[in-house]
Amino acid sequence: MEKFVINGGKPLRGTVRISGAKNAAVAILPAVLLSDEPCIIENLPEISDVATLLDSLSILGAQVKLINKTTVQIDPRGAGSYVVSKEMAEGMRASSYFLGALLGRCGHAVVAPPGGCDFGVRPIDQHIKGFETLGAEVSIENGMVEAHASDLFGGSVYLDMVSVGATINIMLAAVKAKGLTVIENAAREPHIVDLANFLNSMGANIMGAGTNAIKIRGVEHLHGTSYSIIPDQIEAGTYMVAAAATKGDILIENVIPKHLESIIAKIIEIGATVTEYDESVRVTMKTRPKKCTIKTMPHPGFPTDMQPQFGVLLSIADGTSFITEGVWESRYRYLEQLAIMGADFKVDGKTAMITGVESLKPAPVKAVDLRAGAAVIIAGLMTKGETTVEQIQFIDRGYEHIAEKFTKLGADIKRVTVSDNAANTKMA
Ligand code: UD1
Repeated sequence: MEKFVINGGKPLRGTVRISGAKNAAVAILPAVLLSDEPCIIENLPEISDVATLLDSLSILGAQVKLINKTTVQIDPRGAGSYVVSKEMAEGMRASSYFLGALLGRCGHAVVAPPGGCDFGVRPIDQHIKGFETLGAEVSIENGMVEAHASDLFGGSVYLDMVSVGATINIMLAAVKAKGLTVIENAAREPHIVDLANFLNSMGANIMGAGTNAIKIRGVEHLHGTSYSIIPDQIEAGTYMVAAAATKGDILIENVIPKHLESIIAKIIEIGATVTEYDESVRVTMKTRPKKCTIKTMPHPGFPTDMQPQFGVLLSIADGTSFITEGVWESRYRYLEQLAIMGADFKVDGKTAMITGVESLKPAPVKAVDLRAGAAVIIAGLMTKGETTVEQIQFIDRGYEHIAEKFTKLGADIKRVTVSDNAANTKMA
């Protein structure tokens, strides 16, 4: 077991390079199974979710060859299995994408229910509705989701709510189905567009990705491709918040500024100065953050995956701020960790009221999930004294070399091993 030890209170300054997008990578890797030839994927983030998916692809029978740390060649031709076990799916929401990918590849998928961050109930009814519209039979047997179809036919699916996962899974299942599939009320996140671009580069016929109506005309074969994943919108946003929270000055390189619009707007409202360049943004902050109101929404609205990081900024803002979580049932567990550091908040259903204090106090805290983990790291970085962050395996799921990147920006953050004895004493 490991934890981060942070000696905070220093303004972060310098340049950070953003890695490939986690949420695009975890959709594109299973999508390789749809190809009839080997594919090369570049700009993969070095995170544990990617490692887990590459292991899963190997277990399914694909040949996975690392070309360098961020580039992999995958030959899916030998993938004979269609079963993704509980051990393979554990801890990762994206394992559900094997349902659409395997259904599209061989008409059969047996996948353990997806794991991932705990934001309350995370149903997959819309994914299942989509598969059924394409002609698949879906059942839950012995705790495994099983989808089966001798042939898949295009159809029209209206999503009851905007769902990233359902949009991706239906695209995967539809790309080789016979005829035209239309997904209405589709999600518009940058990684949906990236997946569509990847599939189109293999010969798929997908139109409208990035709008709320995606049209997929099925093709018989997909060929190999070489594809580079887009930069991570949420990793970029996390470093933007870290600059503002520590009254620092950070140039964030390798970003697509268009993907950051809602985050840039909010960070300017809070009092930061943002300069946009073609492929980078600079965030500078000199004052205490101003209070604000945030409502999370599907893209192009303010992303729910940036809500915890902004919650940290608001915990030291001048005045009382309100956050409304518009995507997940429950995503405020990080506030209990911030309360250990002295934050003042009240949660009522989907709304959190945060009254800023002058500064937080250093304390031992935990990463309760991936983005909550990033939030408590930022809290530690902006607070004078020693803060420790446990359960950092959640952070490693989605942030590449986070301690090294912050160290390069002038932070004092160390990854240390927690001895089994110490861990057991604390767990008792
Ligand atoms: C993805 C992201 C996650 C992000 C979320 C919202 C990945 C791997 N994860 O998660 O980081 O927080 O989008 O931007 O890309 N819902 C249903 N039925 C369904 C599907 C979803 O009711 O069949 C509901 C969910 O409970 C939630 C909302 O729809 O309230 C949005 O979920 P969805 O967009 O599907 O999130 P994920 O794809 O799981």
